[in-house]
Amino acid sequence: MQERSPIGVFDSGYGGLTVLKEIVKQLPEYDYLYMGDNARAPYGPRSFDTVYQYTLECVKWFFAQGCELVILACNTASAKALRTIQQKDLPGIDPSKRVLGVIRPTTEIIGGFSKTGEIGILGTAGTVQSDSYPIEIAKFFPACKVYQEACPMWVPLVENNEYDEPGADYFVKKHLDKLSANSGAIDTVLLACTHYPLLMHKIRQYIRDGVTVVSQGEIVAESLARYLDKHRELAKKCSKNGKIDFYTTDSTTDFDNHAAIFFGGAVASKYLDLQAK
Ligand code: DGL
Repeated sequence: MQERSPIGVFDSGYGGLTVLKEIVKQLPEYDYLYMGDNARAPYGPRSFDTVYQYTLECVKWFFAQGCELVILACNTASAKALRTIQQKDLPGIDPSKRVLGVIRPTTEIIGGFSKTGEIGILGTAGTVQSDSYPIEIAKFFPACKVYQEACPMWVPLVENNEYDEPGADYFVKKHLDKLSANSGAIDTVLLACTHYPLLMHKIRQYIRDGVTVVSQGEIVAESLARYLDKHRELAKKCSKNGKIDFYTTDSTTDFDNHAAIFFGGAVASKYLDLQAK
């Protein structure tokens, strides 16, 4: 009998649920373990070292739960912690385990959405400061011009249930205006934060007509499906009972209420105390 080895999906809070939702749609047969580090969110304004330490701690927790594969469904963690974890920590922890992020699958294909070759990136301050998107896009689409805009208020608006309120319009319009002030030729805008799809209706309201707005959930899910198809040994190790467990490092009541919106279904989370070793 196969031991339970769910695919781990991590985010600083609720944003990764927008990715998990698409992954489950594409790959419903697998078991999943979602953890939101809500007690320490947002990660966006934190230093490289802090995001790395927090993310590593969470990744180790996933491994302790039997995960062979962990997806960092958070751009900030993918930008600031993934490479160090892959290169420095994994070889010492267990070289057969895998940790993947959301930046690579997105940058591999984002250039294909644009006709003008000018792409806008909306993300947290941490993601933007890391320059991960311009650096990675240049590898796959060297001719593309990339413009970035940090939207530090967007995650708090979403986390505090204000994303549908009139107050959100000000911050959405402000950052879209700043992004498009860079160039009138931007025809593709990537939501490079897994919280931002919740603001999609307001983004569409204030973005120039004809601009394609891309969110990452489906892209990451399709990339994971291809990855598991290519890495059959790893795929075999992941258990398949179609079960999903949710953990949060903060209030389970808050998590369950938010998760219903982000994930689109009833969620009963469990509390995780990372300090209790
Ligand atoms: N959802 C995370 C991301 O994709 C950011 C949230 C945060 O700042 O913690 O970047």
